[in-house]
Amino acid sequence: MTSTLVQSPAWRRLQNHAQALRPQRIDGLFERDPDRAAEFSASSAGFHLDYSKQLIDRDGLTFLLALAQQQRLPEWIARLAAGEAINSTEGRAAAHMALRAPAGSRMNVQGADVVPMVQQVLARMGGFAARLRNGEWRGFDGQTITDVVNIGIGGSDFGPRMVCEALREQADGPRMHFVSNVDGAEIGGLLPRLDPARTLWIVTSKTFTTQETMTNARTARSWLLQHAGQEAIARHFVAVSTNRAEIERFGIDAANMFEFWDWVGGRYSLWSAVGLPIMVSLGAERFGELLAGARAMDEHFISSPLDRNLPVLMALLAVWNFNFLDHGTQVMAAYAQRLEKFIGWLQQLELESNGKGVNRDGEEMACRTATVLWGDVGSNSQHAFFQMLHQGPRVHPVDFILPLQAMPGLEEHQNLMIANCLAQSAALMKGKTAQRVREELSAKGMQGEALEEAIPHRVFAGNRPSNTLLLPRLDAWHLGALLALYEHRTFVESVIWEINAFDQWGVELGKQLAQDVLKAMDGQDQGLDPSTLALLEKIRLNRA
Ligand code: F6P
Repeated sequence: MTSTLVQSPAWRRLQNHAQALRPQRIDGLFERDPDRAAEFSASSAGFHLDYSKQLIDRDGLTFLLALAQQQRLPEWIARLAAGEAINSTEGRAAAHMALRAPAGSRMNVQGADVVPMVQQVLARMGGFAARLRNGEWRGFDGQTITDVVNIGIGGSDFGPRMVCEALREQADGPRMHFVSNVDGAEIGGLLPRLDPARTLWIVTSKTFTTQETMTNARTARSWLLQHAGQEAIARHFVAVSTNRAEIERFGIDAANMFEFWDWVGGRYSLWSAVGLPIMVSLGAERFGELLAGARAMDEHFISSPLDRNLPVLMALLAVWNFNFLDHGTQVMAAYAQRLEKFIGWLQQLELESNGKGVNRDGEEMACRTATVLWGDVGSNSQHAFFQMLHQGPRVHPVDFILPLQAMPGLEEHQNLMIANCLAQSAALMKGKTAQRVREELSAKGMQGEALEEAIPHRVFAGNRPSNTLLLPRLDAWHLGALLALYEHRTFVESVIWEINAFDQWGVELGKQLAQDVLKAMDGQDQGLDPSTLALLEKIRLNRA
């Protein structure tokens, strides 16, 4: 069966409306409605979202909101917030909002209040982080810990790594390192820089069976045991996981386990014990601010009307751009160097959540899902892929993210960041006509054939949509709110597409086949396809 979404009245109406709007220009919409910038924007939690540079008008917005109602978005938001088991293929809730619920509040997951146990783990994390940070926690020979390494991958790496990077100016704990790739170059490059007596390893894995993480963890353990006895493991290894049995099997004392729960999805987990590296590096207070910012965005998401709701608006505009205007991919341009790792985190969030070919009922999707997300920080990206954004044949909508506060004493740099960010979105919208190019080149003295040949290369079509998201500063609080904003945006898209955003079966087949390939490398017949067998043979012959 195929999903009937694309035949629904709200979908059809949007298709018709897109037909009508497609020939129009965004700058033309401004001419007709000078108040457009005020009307097509929304603010909350210190954030200001300007979506006036989208090819959308009042009717379009009304029809998108009608689609959200048709898809019962308010009901789904309530179900998410109530901790219902909306991850239907795994029979679990997706209760990441409970991780940032304040002490003393109540949040149920499948009927039971989980806030007390969340707070208990937070308190244990805080106690452990404080002991590491104040030097009370000692290594096997009595020295303090100078370096902490988080071993994890996917959701057990992206979130804490990104937050530690984004807030690194505020880091005042031990040096923090991250190892995720099973490529020995990562851990192999790090070990010579570490002192086994002064290094603590956090092994973070929801399942505690992930091949890459367990391989890196075993390598770290062997390295420690080359320098110390078995008893040193208790002083140098802690685990963050849902799987107590596997932790004990690995040899980590259960007393050194920081627990989270199956209702926390990997890509939604940085707010849980998975955030331990953040607490160690920045302290419990900063971690609390991160949670508080996320909570402010949760409250906005749960209680604001849909037409003022930032995650809802951003998701509906993404659906508009991809499903109705048929634009290419979603570009992220964060005008903040410290958000360099944000896009990797966001890619897992969006593509693991919404990269699905069937809806919740297992019916084949008849429309595109998952906004293919990519990008980099501005202004660097202006010197890389912005050429394509301005003049490439396909339109790729952009989210410009712009924190306003300058680094102390570097105001001139921030002025340039702001100017560049706004200039790019304006250029994408306005473009440059052949007539204007002709005038500019003629004024410089170019004429005749040379002029005619030059013109097409210098024309910008314009009419390329973008959002601009302003935030006052990139501190823990606003970072928390920013991440929660994109989490909720992802969820809203999934509701529109009728997708379960919280499973990820698509990563399983590759994991299984990697085991088969490993066995085949040992000479066991695994029934692999001829191409893979030929590659294995080539590898065998060429491997040093
Ligand atoms: O990539 C698949 C995945 O299951 C992610 O969803 C998860 O974040 C990652 O692997 C790591 O899993 P774990 O935390 O169990 O090691």
